[in-house]
Amino acid sequence: MYLTIEKTKGSRLTQQIYTKIRTRILNGELKPGEKLPSSRKMAKDLGVSRNTVLAAYDFLFSEGYIAGKTGAGMFVSPGMELPKQPEAVRDYALSVFSPHEITKGEIGFYPGTPDVSLFPRPKWNKALGRAIREAPDSAFGYDYPQGRPELRNVLRDYLKRARGISCDPEQIIVTTGTKQSLTLAGKCLLAKDSEVLIEDPGNGNVKDIFSFHTEKIYPLPADGEGIMPSGFARFSAPSLIFTTPSNAFPLGGALPIARRLALIRYAREKGAWILEDDYDSEFCYQGPPVHALQALAPDIVVYTGTFSKIMFPSVRLGYMVLPYPLVNECRRLKHLCDHHTSSLTQLALMEFIESGELERHVFRMKRLYKKRRDFLISLLLEYFPGKVTVWGGAAGMHVAAQFPGVSFPGALFSKIKAAGVGVVPVSEHTLQKGKYDDMILLGFGNLPEEKIKAGLSVLKKILSEEKRS
Ligand SMILES: Cc1ncc(COP(=O)(O)O)c(C=O)c1O
Repeated sequence: MYLTIEKTKGSRLTQQIYTKIRTRILNGELKPGEKLPSSRKMAKDLGVSRNTVLAAYDFLFSEGYIAGKTGAGMFVSPGMELPKQPEAVRDYALSVFSPHEITKGEIGFYPGTPDVSLFPRPKWNKALGRAIREAPDSAFGYDYPQGRPELRNVLRDYLKRARGISCDPEQIIVTTGTKQSLTLAGKCLLAKDSEVLIEDPGNGNVKDIFSFHTEKIYPLPADGEGIMPSGFARFSAPSLIFTTPSNAFPLGGALPIARRLALIRYAREKGAWILEDDYDSEFCYQGPPVHALQALAPDIVVYTGTFSKIMFPSVRLGYMVLPYPLVNECRRLKHLCDHHTSSLTQLALMEFIESGELERHVFRMKRLYKKRRDFLISLLLEYFPGKVTVWGGAAGMHVAAQFPGVSFPGALFSKIKAAGVGVVPVSEHTLQKGKYDDMILLGFGNLPEEKIKAGLSVLKKILSEEKRS
């Protein structure tokens, strides 16, 4: 028998014949020039119709595996053999890529994680529905790389209202979140030898993103109020300075005005750009949010914002506010990267902001997060009297807790994780290692009070065992 096929219900006979002959040609079993059985004979041997075989031969012919003429017969084409794929190709163990692997039942104190269960899905559904129904045809085609003009107009007003930013819609580029904004800024602003200063501790992803361009990434020491101007003197020629001035990540705190002015003076003197990452300061618990740094130096600050925290992370919507000279290049890079952010999602967001739903949602969540924050802090002080210092918490969805004399990275961290509690050592977000080993981040956005209590009880038990051993 030349080949065998399975004739179970629903089996695609033509596909089977095609695949089997192709495999035998590629692995060299059927040699170039070798004649295939006639379609009539093959059909008879396999017990299928001749048309089934002819269709399979047609596919093989049109893809070039076989050649010949009806009547004269079909032959394997020359040069069809393909070396066998190495066995190991399928054996790579792919690691699970999820930033925080929340195992079932785990109490995850992960920072930057909003409570998505309270997102008003019906309202978002309404906004999406309206966008789909009413969007112009242009929103269904390849669209503006910079983002829909209607959304950028609404964002301009929102940013003025919520963040004190003055800009024109032309300065805004709609992105798929801060990570894309940083990627575009890196491509636009950095060359191979550029020096980048990153506040330290600071978000670990930032260094990774900028390291695509340069190895010269240096820590700019930060304390509970953000970057310290005393660190500036060590660097002579920075191109870019990264900071989170409204709610310093991860230690919390808003950069005081004197430090803001010192930073701007330093950047101007060195001809550096400042990248301001404003990721969650809408959730501020002591008065209105601090105004953005951008408002003080719109000509040198690249401002990035995100909807990951005030809406939900998978919405993948963010924006950059750029000094005018950078707009053309960033727009070109966005176009090359993914053409544009989904237009229908942009239009839904526009509706969500214009109808007031976004700000109502932020208001409700702020009240809830404040309660969770207060509960977390009071329980920390109750469970660890005199043994814990709480950093941050004036805004956002996490605090940093310092336990002098304790070292979290490594064995202790694994022990806490094994006990079903997820925390993030601050050391994960530092360039200079060893300085913050006694600190962990405790996110509270996604945890109701009973979970906060259960998680901190586990932490208390483990840390007291640690003390004894
Ligand atoms: C400091 C900081 N900035 C921004 C973001 C938001 O990134 P994205 O907008 O890509 O979700 C995060 C994510 O957790 C963050 O930690």
